[in-house]
Amino acid sequence: MAQDCAQPLLDITSTKTLRWCRTLKAAEKKGVKDLFICSYPKSGTTWLQHICLSLIAGKDHTGHVSELAPFYEADATWDEHGHVTSDVAIRHDKIRWRVFNTHLWWELLPKHHQARYIYVVRDGRDAAVSFYHHLSHQLRKDGSDVVFKGTYAQFHALWVEGKIAYGRWVDHIRSYHAARGHKFVVFVRYEDIKNNLSGTVHKLNAFLGTDLSADSIESLLPTFRFQWMKANISRFQPLSVQWAGNFKFIRKGEIGDHKATEGPAEARAFFATLHNAFPGGVPKWAGEYKQQRDGARRLSFPPSARHAARFVVAFAAAMVCY
Ligand code: A3P
Repeated sequence: MAQDCAQPLLDITSTKTLRWCRTLKAAEKKGVKDLFICSYPKSGTTWLQHICLSLIAGKDHTGHVSELAPFYEADATWDEHGHVTSDVAIRHDKIRWRVFNTHLWWELLPKHHQARYIYVVRDGRDAAVSFYHHLSHQLRKDGSDVVFKGTYAQFHALWVEGKIAYGRWVDHIRSYHAARGHKFVVFVRYEDIKNNLSGTVHKLNAFLGTDLSADSIESLLPTFRFQWMKANISRFQPLSVQWAGNFKFIRKGEIGDHKATEGPAEARAFFATLHNAFPGGVPKWAGEYKQQRDGARRLSFPPSARHAARFVVAFAAAMVCY
């Protein structure tokens, strides 16, 4: 793992790789652009990879998403001289875009005039639940056990403290908040892609300058749907990962999935971190948390206290009537 980096990363990212990631220069070939699909894990990265590659590469995008949009900070993406591996470079040459997916903070990415950045953000609580399912089914490299063994409450306690790979969700949001207003950065919400797929794809088509007609976009939309991607999972699930049980990487794809998993303690911990990180309120682009905040306040009273309060009110009412 890269030791000189404040963001907790996996051991597939060496210090050397991180340096190359920070300093990548614009492509020398004229007109070749870079696209960074950036996210906190489990926020819809693969979905964005598939959508963007369909817009950019068209019929050249028929294989696994990592062929054309590899994981930027993985050692395996780089050769010993600090260039992306030749097989990736050849594919990138063909489509005239160097596309990567990354979980690195904004400050760890290269900035140059040919680079474009898409940040996909998902409700942090849903990302946490999705991450839990991922890590509690992903087998360790030696196959001996799953990467995370424990309950959701145990996972969440570590997650909220930034002790799970890639660090705290709020720190990721804070990092990318600094990219607001950058001409070549666009923010996309997972929830908006789900609720308005066509609108989101049109927005990305304009941002990337890919100039697909409305008809072409319409014809692509069915391939961006959850069921289609699930049916073609071999193009989307990580290539080097073995799963325990019958886990499916394209798992549920729902908004608000945390409601089925999260308890009052997790809700309180999440909102406490949220309020500490953003005392003035969560930036609007990162999601809508008001209702849940009220819920968390309600939840901050233990059931016994609520029953006692109800009893006092009922007793007082009875006394008044009496
Ligand atoms: P769930 O585990 O909640 O189902 P990432 O690619 O960043 O790892 O994100 C994975 C999450 O995105 C998973 O969430 C996965 O199901 C969801 N996802 C992938 N493709 C999707 C699609 N077409 N529609 C909705 N959700 C999708």
